[in-house]
Order: sequence, then C-alpha cells, then structure tokens
Amino acid sequence: AGSSMIDPFGRSISYLRVSVTDRCDFRCTYCMAEDMAFLPKKDLLSLEELDRLCTVFIEKGVKKLRLTGGEPLVRKNIMHLVRQLSRHLDSGALEELTLTTNGSQLARFAQELADCGVKRINVSLDTLDPDKFRTITRWGDLSKVMAGIEAAEAAGLKIKINAVALKGFNDTELPEMLRWAHGRGMDLTVIETMPMGEIDADRTDQYLPLSQLRADLERRFTLTDIPYKTGGPARYVEVAETGGRMGFITPLTHNFCESCNRVRLTCTGMLYMCLGQNDDADLRAPLRASEGNELLSNAIDEAIGRKPKGHDFVIDRRTRRPAVARHMSVTGG
Ligand code: GTP
Ligand code: 5AD
Ligand code: SF4
Repeated sequence: AGSSMIDPFGRSISYLRVSVTDRCDFRCTYCMAEDMAFLPKKDLLSLEELDRLCTVFIEKGVKKLRLTGGEPLVRKNIMHLVRQLSRHLDSGALEELTLTTNGSQLARFAQELADCGVKRINVSLDTLDPDKFRTITRWGDLSKVMAGIEAAEAAGLKIKINAVALKGFNDTELPEMLRWAHGRGMDLTVIETMPMGEIDADRTDQYLPLSQLRADLERRFTLTDIPYKTGGPARYVEVAETGGRMGFITPLTHNFCESCNRVRLTCTGMLYMCLGQNDDADLRAPLRASEGNELLSNAIDEAIGRKPKGHDFVIDRRTRRPAVARHMSVTGG
C-alpha cells in the first residue's frame, strides 16, 4: 500500500474509471445496438465489493476516480457507493470523485452527489433538439436531461458537456451547442466516435475527424490552445467569442496514449488496461479468494505490468467489424 502503480512505459496510473453497470436507460445508436445483451445481474459485484476494489486502488496511488456505466445512476443504491467512497475525499487520499452520466436521473441525485463531495460531473449530450435527441438515444426525453442539468447547476456542480461528433447528425449544430454551453458556464468537449462493439449501423458513415470540425469552427470562432488539464484525454482551447473552454478528444486523429494515466474496472470485476484493446485481468477471483487484499494487490500489479502502449481502434476492412468487440458501456469509456 502507498506505493504507486507504474506501467511498463513509465506511465503512472492515478486515474480509475469504474463502470458500475453496463445497463443504460438510453440506447444511443453509436454506442449500443437496439437489442443489447447485458451482463447477467448475478455476475455483478456488490457495491461493497466495488468499494473494496476502489479502496485498494486508492491505496495503490489512484487520486482520481470516475464512476461510469452504462448509466451509473441507474445502478441500484448507487448513492450508497458514492457515500462510501467519499470517505477517501475526507481523508485526502482521493483528490477527485466524479461521474459521467447521461443526465436522465440527475434531477434526483444532483444534490446528494454534491453533498458527497462531488465537485464536477460530465453530462453526455449530443444535441439540443428534442426530436434529434429522441432519435440518437432511441427514446430519450431531452427535457429530463435539461432538468438534470439545472438541478446540477443548482447544487453547485461544475458541468462539462460531452458530445460525440457525428457527421450528418450534430456537426452543423455544434456552434450552437458551444454558445449554449458556454453561456451557462459549462465546458463542452467533443469526441471522435470510436469503433467499439457492434451497433446497428456502419460507424464509418458518421465518423467525423475533429481536425475537420476544428477547421470549420475556426471560420466562426477564435480558438486558442490552452494548457488546461483535467487528467483526462481532452486537449482544450479557449473560445474568444464566448469566453468558454472547449475540449477535443481525438483517439483516432491524434492518439494521446503516451500520457495515459488510467485503467478501467467493470461491474463484474474485470480490469481493462486500455479502452482500445481486448486484454483484461480478472480481479473478482482474487477479491473473493481471501479477506485480505494481498492477492488482489498482486493481481493489480500483474495487470498494470502488461498495460499496452496504446489502443488498436481499427475496423476490419472486409468484415466491417470493430477490432474491439465489447461496447463502450462495458468500460464506460
Ligand atoms: P475529464 O476528467 O473531465 O477530463 O474526463 P474524461 O474526458 O477523462 O472522461 P469522460 O468520462 O468525460 O470521457 C469522455 C470521453 O473520453 C469518453 O468518450 C471516453 O470514452 C473518452 N476517453 C476517456 N479516457 C479515454 C482513453 O483513455 N482513451 C480513449 N480512447 N478514450 C478515452
Ligand atoms: N465512441 C465515442 N464515444 C462514445 N460514447 C459512447 N460510445 C462511444 C463511441 N463508440 C460516449 C458517450 C459518453 C461517453 C462515456 O462515451 O457519449 O459521452
Ligand atoms: Fe447510455 Fe451513454 Fe451509451 Fe447513450 S452513450 S446508450 S447514454 S451509455
């Protein structure tokens, strides 16, 4: 305990992303197939087990913890886990506890999250148009998400909006989204769609390289690169016209793997050392094998010891299948 986790490429692992459920109340078309097979509930780690795992990671040097899903706020009793984890903020062992959410349940949970020491959350939102929102999420109600954002603002949470940039869907709307987000004091980050898991469409149709989006935006806005860092993969610019901050997450056009600081834990206790690789490590067996944490700690060290250099996001030209077969929702991005 207390030691830090260093991978074979000298990168220090200080950021754990935990997918607390692979389920979601939406089915964003770029993320999931309509007819998704979710993990059997009997395979889920309990909230106590997730807490124990997170605690071991924090003892081993994790400073930033992000709950994801699926949709983290649909996991039953999730606030119990958040409350438990907040003790690590109180002790100073953990610097940031946060989550990435689709916002649908935020109206209910925003205040409680703030009470647990959460300062900042990321809300996934790809359009401000209610009809388009319904289309992209397959049935989502935008007004619920907007109410969630308002509740989060009222609770004093800092909000970052995450939008996946999709050609022919929201590319022309992004200037408006930028003005909207910045007008409310929220950052907006755009993300290149990554080929993960099978969906009901051909992803390459909607792929929009962000270098192209940036060039488009620069015809209307003045973007200046800034050194702002969150510990996440986004590179930020300041937008002179709005006074706000915009992030670009570009796994495909500009790989940021060399500064990777994170690993991902799933709700069944699998550890993924890279979002864009299939290699994993089972932590459930060592977790359940003994009450002490030594086996677990060794299993984590062994896993970090084979963290790959970078991702392998490719689509097989012949089969059109993504090389990473699991969906984003298994690891929460
Ligand atoms: P901040 O702390 O706000 O910077 O968060 P973040 O950008 O690290 O996390 P968030 O949950 O907002 O993720 C935004 C997008 O970045 C999601 O689509 C993730 O899949 C993607 N992302 C996060 N980490 C990685 C990574 O290591 N590799 C790749 N390729 N994508 C990542
Ligand atoms: N590529 C890029 N981002 C994705 N997300 C879900 N699936 C994909 C994908 N295939 C995004 C969500 C959310 C974040 C956790 O991941 O929109 O913002
Ligand atoms: Fe759910 Fe987020 Fe995937 Fe949409 S992108 S289906 S909100 S997990």
